[in-house]
Order: sequence, then C-alpha cells, then structure tokens
Amino acid sequence: MEAIVEVRNIKKTYKKRKSKTYVQAVNDVSFTVNRGEILGLLGPNGAGKTTTIKMICGLLEQDSGTITINGVNNREKRLDALNNISAVLEGNRNLYWRLTVRENLEYFAGNRGRSRKEVAGRIEELLEQFHLKSKENELVNRLSRGMQQKLAIAVAMLADSEVILLDEPTLGIDVETGYEVRELLRDIVKNDQRTIIISSHDMDVIQDLCERTVIISDGKIITDDRIENLMRLFEVRSYLIRLEGSLSEKQQQLLKQKFPHHQYTEDLAQATLDVDLAKSEEIYELFDILKMEETPVDSIDRKTVNFEQIFMKIVKEAKNGALAQSS
Ligand SMILES: Nc1ncnc2c1ncn2[C@@H]1O[C@H](COP(=O)(O)OP(=O)(O)O)[C@@H](O)[C@H]1O
Ligand SMILES: [Mg+2]
Repeated sequence: MEAIVEVRNIKKTYKKRKSKTYVQAVNDVSFTVNRGEILGLLGPNGAGKTTTIKMICGLLEQDSGTITINGVNNREKRLDALNNISAVLEGNRNLYWRLTVRENLEYFAGNRGRSRKEVAGRIEELLEQFHLKSKENELVNRLSRGMQQKLAIAVAMLADSEVILLDEPTLGIDVETGYEVRELLRDIVKNDQRTIIISSHDMDVIQDLCERTVIISDGKIITDDRIENLMRLFEVRSYLIRLEGSLSEKQQQLLKQKFPHHQYTEDLAQATLDVDLAKSEEIYELFDILKMEETPVDSIDRKTVNFEQIFMKIVKEAKNGALAQSS
C-alpha cells in the first residue's frame, strides 16, 4: 500500500499560560497513513490528538520532526501540501454563521478557486448526501450543532482534497446526529476513496469507523495496530477461572506478585479468579500456582472483552510502564 501521510518524530511543547512551565503535548510521534485508509487517532483527553491534527494540517508548526503529505513536506512547501488536505477541527466549525447552508458551500467552493457553475452539481449531491437539502436556505447560526458539524464535513468534502482530517467529529452533538455522521463517514470511505484521519477519545467511534488505530497517551504513541489484532491479542489473554474451594494464603500471595491486577473473590462454595495475562504463556505460571495446593478447577473461560476495556488496559499498561521506567 502506498503511504500518503507520513509523520516522522514530531514534537510540540507549549508554554503554560501565566507560568514558566512547559507541556510536552506531542512527544516524538511517528505514523504512516496509506492512501484510501481511515485511521483512528485515539487517546484520552489531553493526549495530544488535536495538537497532532493541527500540525498535520499546518495550523501549528512542530518544534521538530517532519510531516509529508503525498510526498510534499508541509513546512518546505506549505501551500502545496495543504492543497491535499481538508480539516474539520473540534469546536471550530469553520463556517460563516450569517450565511445559509447553501451559501457556505458556494463560498468555500469559490475559496478554492472553483466557479459556482463548476460546483453546482457537486453541491446538490452533497446537500442530498448529508440530508441538508431541506435546510439549504437556513442560516448556519440557526442550525443545531449536529447539523453544523454535518455542514462542516460537507464543506471539507467539497474541496476534493485527498486527505481529510476530522478532529472529534461526534463530540458535542446529539446521539442521533452522531450516528448519522458515522454513517456518512462510512459511505465516504467506501465510495470516495479518500484518506481520512479521525481523532476521538470515544473508542466506540473509532471501532465503528476505522480498521487501524494509533493510540496516544501523554503525547506518545502506545499502540499502532489493526483493531482486529488488538481484539484478538486481548481475547486470548483474559480468563475467568472458577475454582472449587478457595486458595491458600500462600497461593494468594504468589498471585499478587505475578498478576498484580487480578481479581480474586470467594464465596461459600466457589472462588473465582479473574486474570489478564500480559503474555498468553503466563497461563502456565498461573496453573503452577493452582497446582501447588492441587486446587480443583471447576471451569476456565475466556472472557469476552470489548474495545473499550482493551483501550483502558493499553493506556493503563503504558502508564504503569512509564512509571516503572522513570522510577
Ligand atoms: N494552546 C495551548 N497552550 C498550552 N497548553 C496546551 C495548548 N493546547 C493544548 N495544550 C496542552 O497540550 C496537551 C495536549 O492537548 P491536545 O492536543 O488538545 O489533546 P487532545 O486533543 O488529545 O485532548 C494537553 O496537556 C493540553 O492541556
Ligand atoms: Mg482534542
């Protein structure tokens, strides 16, 4: 597959307002997006997603590192690079509030140097596709936030750039329109062959729309993988084991040492052990502990995990890892 966006070792530090301290918002981030791919940039609030998106679309300059779009370095040939990109940023809906829906589409088409006649058909298509036809003569400031967001995406689509950046596209809009936006984005990916980078803190949105995700936390990439792989990886590692009887003090002690995040519960007849292995081979160590006292095992089940739990675990493990390294 052919790379269209290449981000190499970018860093960005902000100075905190009214203080002499600095925030390392993006700390040595690298990833590649292939043509026609829809990539999810996932991470908790403050992870550095918006900063990354702003650097890719040239609204913010990185302190170091390089970004190329379609082979064009976005610092050396800023305008050429930006020609290939449209962005819809969080909160800032990039629209003229005192113009109507249709006027906004016409205005932004003109902005890209295209005549009204040239784009008339395309505008009609977009109004239909985004279900905005009945609102075409409505002023933007009278639309709901969800409608405004749809229009902002339609405006981005109008530019026909190869790469579209969407920062938190479903944030702050009603649930129903959120689903509609997701469906629109799925259609765009299927039919338009665009390359899309979506940032979100909502794993549901990312799982729904993206095949691959780059997960960032504290300005660093902690995972870059296909969602399918992440699911598989974690599914083989999460077990729920039911025991007849209970574990001895000694066994419980060993469990705490080897599997610090496990959960052990006991009631009268049965004990349950809920454990996530860091590697699937660790199952042998777990069995060694059970074997010590020949604890009878009633059942062993793999837990089904959802993407949200996986995301939480990945972020937590990364944080623990970082803590362990820095101490
Ligand atoms: N203009 C700014 N000035 C100072 N700090 C900022 C600024 N913008 C973002 N930050 C800080 O940089 C970090 C990353 O922010 P951001 O990129 O907005 O994260 P995200 O979009 O993932 O929530 C956060 O700690 C945030 O507080
Ligand atoms: Mg953000």
